[in-house]
Amino acid sequence: MQTIFSGIQPSGTITLGNYIGALTQFIELQNEYNCYFCIVDQHAITVPQDRLVLRQNIRSLAALYLAVGIDPDKVTLFIQSEVPAHAQAGWMLQCVAYIGELERMTQFKDKSAGKEAVVAGLLTYPPLMAADILLYNTNLVPVGEDQKQHLELTRDIAERFNKKYNDIFTIPEVRIPTVGARIMSLQEPTKKMSKSDPNQKAFISLLDEPKQIDKKIKSAVTDSEGLVKYDKENKPGISNLISIYSILSKKSIADIEALYEGKGYGEFKADLAQVVINEFEPIQKRYHELMKSTYLDEVLDQGAAKANLVANKMIKKMENAMGLGRKK
Ligand code: AQP
Repeated sequence: MQTIFSGIQPSGTITLGNYIGALTQFIELQNEYNCYFCIVDQHAITVPQDRLVLRQNIRSLAALYLAVGIDPDKVTLFIQSEVPAHAQAGWMLQCVAYIGELERMTQFKDKSAGKEAVVAGLLTYPPLMAADILLYNTNLVPVGEDQKQHLELTRDIAERFNKKYNDIFTIPEVRIPTVGARIMSLQEPTKKMSKSDPNQKAFISLLDEPKQIDKKIKSAVTDSEGLVKYDKENKPGISNLISIYSILSKKSIADIEALYEGKGYGEFKADLAQVVINEFEPIQKRYHELMKSTYLDEVLDQGAAKANLVANKMIKKMENAMGLGRKK
């Protein structure tokens, strides 16, 4: 059976973008692959975090993984910082990656732009991400389009390590969904929807109340044409909303355009809000039950135990390949 690894940062409550671009893929894949799904909290501290909020977000993300339908009997769900091998392997891979290639990463450029003091972890994020993936002999990494560049770098680092030291890493393939790989901001539809966007109106969080969802969709930026027509180039706002509608309702874009022909954006937006609310309602109900239960901790303990076992074997191989420590 082939192995999958993917992670989500607990840098806020996950958005509709994370849900469509990542989580819905995970639910499908858990039946066919040996899956490792990780709450990558060490990645989250590459930007400032409040410690209590971070703790809450880690637990909340774990509950959301389960609430959307991730089955812990089928997958290994764990927290990155509870598997020290990630930081160990991350360091070794920092010694394989080049500063130049890290500086070329779009995410680094975006997140460091205009900042006076940029922490080193923001630059060395990709070798840690490479470590996450390579520790588990991962064959496939399901991610949204924004992570494609990091994945390409992971492959380069792995190939370089295999050539320079020893051929121990499986070279992973990237899996990007054919639809919904890039859900855009509701306020700036040429920018991707992000959970850490300072503008709350720019994203829909999985835990937003129905009223908030309705309000955010109603205030989503569109255009003055008033035509419900998919045209990503010229009408990015309404096209983004049509994509979301289509993915969640499983109606084709053409059917949606036909359904709203001669109708304005108001009616379309009200219906879309209802589609999103209906999708989230059972997830939120299960989420609140899970947050109160001890089951969540049991799942995370089991996940960490299993991940530690597998990851430590790879650490040994890496240390042997690089000549670290003593031969055992
Ligand atoms: N807008 C998006 N559309 C589709 N997929 C998306 N993903 C993120 N945003 C979108 C996918 O969600 C997974 C988890 O992402 P992450 O938390 O590891 O980091 P990210 O890509 O940086 O996500 P955010 O929401 O933008 O977080 P912040 O604001 O903290 O940087 C990944 O598979 C990603 O592709």
